[in-house]
Amino acid sequence: MKSELKITGDGSATLYMKDLNEHYHSSYGAVQESMHVFIKTGLMALKKKTISIFEMGFGTGLNAMLTYLEADKYSSIEFHALELYPLKWNLIETLNYQGYLNLTKEQTMVFRNMHRLPWEEKIQLSSNFLLKKMKADMNNHAFHSNYDLFYYDAFAPKVQPELWTEEIFKKIFNVANAHGILVTYSARGEVRRNLQKAGFKVERLPGPPGKREIIRAIKQ
Ligand SMILES: C[S@@+](CC[C@H](N)C(=O)[O-])C[C@H]1O[C@@H](n2cnc3c(N)ncnc32)[C@H](O)[C@@H]1O
Repeated sequence: MKSELKITGDGSATLYMKDLNEHYHSSYGAVQESMHVFIKTGLMALKKKTISIFEMGFGTGLNAMLTYLEADKYSSIEFHALELYPLKWNLIETLNYQGYLNLTKEQTMVFRNMHRLPWEEKIQLSSNFLLKKMKADMNNHAFHSNYDLFYYDAFAPKVQPELWTEEIFKKIFNVANAHGILVTYSARGEVRRNLQKAGFKVERLPGPPGKREIIRAIKQ
């Protein structure tokens, strides 16, 4: 599918998929949204120092990189990401994340490695950050690990309704550790209800600029 580079409201870049009429991130601010939804509302809400994360939709790797940049505050982060349509590094490097995030040479190399190193392998990117990318379809993905935190970053329910169902959330609930958290940018009623039916306690929290609310779901 063809994608176009777009600059969002906070000056950071994203990709726009013309065929789906869908952006990879909020057009009000890509980095701003990722920091708010996934890092502040998800990662920082966990009271643990050893954390396992599952991301639905690796995409540009922005959430993975923002998590990597926080990893020094933790003993260890193991980050597994699912992606059915991997993007090429020569497209990713046209996005402005290196400059926008003020990445050092070493951090830029890590970001590049996130994309260029092989899939399906566990790769230790620093002493406290391990990445495993899985090229697979969320619709029939069989989980083999348990997780503390889920970054649920599929395209919107109007575009991919099959990825926001009770059935999918139940599979996630079953592999969530006690007190595990799922965070997502969508606060649609149907998403909320499907998460509740799957067993999660759901909170609606203030969203980033341009979005009134987001969801944090907790396995109690
Ligand atoms: C909203 S974007 C994710 C943005 C990403 N987290 C980032 O930081 O750039 C949704 C992602 O889900 C991927 N995707 C779509 N359908 C999928 C499926 N059935 N299984 C796995 N990944 C899928 C898309 O290719 C896309 O990369």
